[in-house]
Amino acid sequence: MQHGRDRCRYAILALLSLTWWPARAASQMPDAAALIGALGCAGCHAGMPARTSTAPPLGPTGARYDEAWLFAYMARGSGPRDSSPARMPDFRLDDAERVALAAFVASTGTGSLRAPATDAQKTAHRSARAASKNAEAGLGRRIFAGLNCAGCHVHQGISAWSAGPGLSTEGSRVQPAWLSAYLARPHAVRPYGAYPGTGSRMPDFRLTSSEIATIASYLSVRRVALPSFTPRALSPFAEAKATALLRDELSCLGCHRIGSDGGKIGPDLSNAGARLQPAWVAAMIRDPRHTVPSTIMARVPMPATTQELITSYIASRRSSAPAPASLSLAQHPVLEPRYGDGAPDAYARTCSHCHGASGEGDGWNARYLPVQPTAHADKAYMSTRTDGALLDGIHGGGRILNRSNRMPPFGESFTRAQVRELVGYLRVLCDCAGPSWSRPQAGASR
Ligand code: HEC
Ligand code: HEC
Ligand code: HEC
Ligand code: HEC
Repeated sequence: MQHGRDRCRYAILALLSLTWWPARAASQMPDAAALIGALGCAGCHAGMPARTSTAPPLGPTGARYDEAWLFAYMARGSGPRDSSPARMPDFRLDDAERVALAAFVASTGTGSLRAPATDAQKTAHRSARAASKNAEAGLGRRIFAGLNCAGCHVHQGISAWSAGPGLSTEGSRVQPAWLSAYLARPHAVRPYGAYPGTGSRMPDFRLTSSEIATIASYLSVRRVALPSFTPRALSPFAEAKATALLRDELSCLGCHRIGSDGGKIGPDLSNAGARLQPAWVAAMIRDPRHTVPSTIMARVPMPATTQELITSYIASRRSSAPAPASLSLAQHPVLEPRYGDGAPDAYARTCSHCHGASGEGDGWNARYLPVQPTAHADKAYMSTRTDGALLDGIHGGGRILNRSNRMPPFGESFTRAQVRELVGYLRVLCDCAGPSWSRPQAGASR
C-alpha cells in the first residue's frame, strides 16, 4: 500500500515538474528556497525561507556530552548528511572559544552520553584548557548566545535572535563575484558582529560549487531600487584630499577601517570597491538608516561635493590584503544585543564600543582610535563640562568642540529629545552635574 501511494505521488510530482519546468528553468527559486530552508540560514538572517531542518537540542532536554568530544567536534562542524543538506557549519572557533563552548554545552545536557572521547581527544582538550585560563562555562554561555547557536539548536533559556544582517536587499549591496567567493569561504566583514559588540559571525557551511551557484543566484535578484552612482576616477590630488578629509575632518574612521587605520565597529572598507555596488556605497553614506534601518551608523552631514568625493574614494578602494579576522570572543566581552530605545540601551548599542559600557573611556574599539574617548564616568572632568557642550558634542561630533573628529555627529540619527536624554545618562554615569554657573537654577537638585 505504502509502495502504491509513493508511486502515485511520484507520478503527480513528475507531472507537476513537467508543467513547472519552464518557470524553473528561468529561475531556480524553488530549489534555492528548499536548499536555504534545509541549511537553516533563516536561523540568523531575517527574510530568508523558513528553516525546515532540525538540529539536536543542546540544553537540559538534550543529550549528555563529553567535554573533550565536544572540543574536538566543534573544530570543524559536520559534512552534509545523505538525507538532507543540513549540516553543522564551521564557526572557525579558536581553541579558547572551543574550550568555553564545550564547558558550557557539557554542563547542561541531561540525557544519555552522546559519545565517549578518545584518549587523543582528551589529551588535546586538556592542553587547550590549560592554555585558556578563563574559558569557563559562563563565557561559553555568552559565546553561545552571541554566535546564535540557538538559531538552530533549541536550548532552554537562550533565545534565538537575528544575528546576521538582513539579506532581502543583498543583490543591491554586493558585487556578484564577491558574493560567490564569500559563500565559498566566509570571512569577517564586521569583525565584532553584525550588530557591533555581539560577536556574531557568518559560519562556513563548506558549500559545494553547485550550492553556491544556487544560493548566489537566489540572493542576487533580491534588490531594492537605489539611485545609480558612477564613481569618478580620482586624480592624485583628489585622492589626497579625500585621505585628508577622512583623517582630519570626518568621523568615518572612528568606526571603519581603511588599510591599517580605523575602528572595527562597521565593515572594513579597504576592499569596498570589490565588495560593494557603488549605488549602495552612495545610499549608505547619504542616509544610513534609510538603507539599513537597524544600523548604528551615523548620518554624517557634509557638502554635496564632499559626499561625491568620499563616495567615489570608498567605492574605488581595492585591497589584496587578507580579509580581517573575527575578534576572539574569549578575549572580548560579548554584549547582549539591545533593542530598547531608552538612553541606557542607546548608549550600550551605540556609544559603549568607544566609551566603555560604564563610561570609563575603555570600550573595545578604543584601542583602534588615535585619541582616548572621553571617560564619561570621570566625575572631576565631567563636572567641568556644561550640558550644552555635551549636547553639542553628541549632536555635531568631536570636531565642533575642537576635539577628535573620530567622535561621530549623531544629530541626524537621534531626535533632539533623545540627545538630551543621552546627556542625562552621561550625568548618571559621572554621578555629577555641570558647573553651577551653567545650570539654569544653581543648586537645584537633579
Ligand atoms: C549562526 C548565524 C548565521 C547563519 C546560520 C548564517 N549566517 Fe550568514 N551571516 C551571519 C553573520 C553574523 C553575518 C555578518 C558577518 C560579518 O559581517 O562579518 C553573515 C553574513 C552573510 C552574508 C554577507 C552579508 C553582507 O553583505 O555583509 C551572506 C551573503 C550570508 N551571510 C548568507 C548566508 C546564507 C546563504 C546562509 C545559509 C547557508 C547563512 N548566511 C547562514 C550569520 C549567519
Ligand atoms: C545553521 C544551523 C546550525 C548552527 C547555527 C549551529 N549548528 Fe550545531 N549542528 C547543526 C546540525 C544540522 C547538526 C547535526 C549534524 C549532523 O547530524 O551531522 C549540528 C550538530 C552539532 C553538535 C553535535 C550534536 C550531536 O549530538 O551530534 C554540536 C555539539 C553542535 N552542533 C554545537 C553547536 C554550537 C556550539 C553552535 C554555535 C557555535 C552550533 N552548533 C551552531 C546545525 C547548526
Ligand atoms: C558610529 C559608527 C559609524 C560611523 C561614524 C560611520 N559608519 Fe559607516 N557603517 C557603520 C556600520 C555599523 C555599518 C554596517 C551596517 C550594516 O549592518 O550593514 C556601516 C556601513 C557602511 C557602509 C556600507 C558597508 C557595507 O558593507 O554594507 C559604507 C559604505 C559606510 N558605512 C561608509 C561610511 C562613511 C563614508 C562614513 C563617514 C562619512 C561612515 N560610514 C561613518 C558604522 C559607522
Ligand atoms: C567611534 C568611537 C566613538 C563613538 C561610537 C562615540 N564616541 Fe563620543 N567620543 C569619541 C572620541 C574619540 C571623543 C573625543 C575625545 C577627545 O578628543 O578628547 C569623544 C567625545 C565625546 C564627547 C565630548 C566630551 C567632552 O569632552 O566634552 C561626548 C559628549 C561624547 N563623546 C558622547 C558620545 C555619545 C553619547 C555617543 C553615543 C551616542 C558617543 N559619544 C559615541 C569616540 C566615540
